[in-house]
Amino acid sequence: MKELVIEGMTAGELVAQYGTPLYVYDQAKLENNLEAYTQNFKSDLFQTKILYASKAFQTIGMLDLIANYGLGVDVVSGGELYTALQSDVPVEKIHFHGNNKTTEELRMAFESGIVHIVADNVMELEEIAELAEEYQRAVTIQIRLNVGIEAHTHEYIVTTHIDSKFGIAFGSEDYQACLAIFEKSDYLHLEGFHVHIGSQIFEMDAWYAAIDKMLGYLATFDYPMTLNLGGGFGVRYTDEDQPMPIKENMEQILSYLEGKLQETGVTINEVVIEPGRSLVAEAGITLYEIGYQKQTPNKHYYFVDGGMGDNIRPSLYQAKYACDVANKLDAEKTELVTVAGKYCESGDVLIHDVHLPPVEKGDVLVVYSTGAYGYSMSSNYNRNPTPAVVFVKDGKAREIVKRQTLADLIRNDVKNGGEWK
Ligand code: LLP
Repeated sequence: MKELVIEGMTAGELVAQYGTPLYVYDQAKLENNLEAYTQNFKSDLFQTKILYASKAFQTIGMLDLIANYGLGVDVVSGGELYTALQSDVPVEKIHFHGNNKTTEELRMAFESGIVHIVADNVMELEEIAELAEEYQRAVTIQIRLNVGIEAHTHEYIVTTHIDSKFGIAFGSEDYQACLAIFEKSDYLHLEGFHVHIGSQIFEMDAWYAAIDKMLGYLATFDYPMTLNLGGGFGVRYTDEDQPMPIKENMEQILSYLEGKLQETGVTINEVVIEPGRSLVAEAGITLYEIGYQKQTPNKHYYFVDGGMGDNIRPSLYQAKYACDVANKLDAEKTELVTVAGKYCESGDVLIHDVHLPPVEKGDVLVVYSTGAYGYSMSSNYNRNPTPAVVFVKDGKAREIVKRQTLADLIRNDVKNGGEWK
């Protein structure tokens, strides 16, 4: 029987060595994606910077790889910041995002030497200004703008929607208040604006619409600013998704942008992008062991030893994935099945109505393109330990994250309920 091979290692070898469920990343694919971004996101008209949106898959091992390619990192919490600080990514390449960074998190940023902060609202900018004064530290700020463009897959809408929890509207009272804060502060420098229009975007016109709006805003300043376009570049989960290769996607965005700059005469200093999903999603797979099966009047279930704890996306977003029986790739797919997990929740279904071959207990199921927002959104629901994460390259695997043990699960539990105070 034909078996799945990832960078020279069979699924069987990986499972024998690391158990299941298992997150497996093809390191060569990660590197190809990193190359594709670094080689193709370049311009003669402005500087460029690529920040990995690390929420997609944040571990020290991944960040170290990011650092090898010279990318920066976007973090959105004290925990992501802490992890990034333990990695090889230089502190000056860490950008701190988030709509409600706590005072403690901001202090942590100042104390660890973070110089780039994306400010999301006026109250936050005020607090950053106060802290910069207290620490006597210069900080470079991008303001997150809400441009009223929401993109998702093949659609985008232009709204006058001003009620998003993220960002502020250009020209609004809040916007003016932000400018006043920069006027007063000796430590804050307004570097530019940030926008993030959505996820899994395939529609180029959505990018173009965002660029048009942002250039209009940047043109109101008398110095060349930074334009941060955020992330959202689409990936392939199933055959329904047909993303453009990274190279072409970057070329199209850059050529539109360069054309617009020439047409309008606006000059900009730097363009930043923040890809998350598109760097990691397709490089990752999850391996499960198939357990029992069940036939109901209308459904044939294959149960696997993981589910919503290691991949919440199908239950949370009705996200679709493709799968195979990893040790029976060439077997005839005669069964129409539902792949369900082991969690105590009816919604814990990984894949609905998929054709797979007949299986036995102990066969290995592979779910493809699980590299983004799988591990990073994992939970210990039902006290299932979080799976290990391995990177594979040239016939060898290395463990990036160890499988949680049962002892890890109760590490913070206080026996006998602690002390009444
Ligand atoms: N930059 C900002 C400011 C963001 O908010 C995000 C994602 C990104 C960059 C990266 O976007 P990406 O390239 O990964 O699409 N949990 C959801 C995705 C939430 C994305 C939130 N922001 C999911 O599993 O689909």
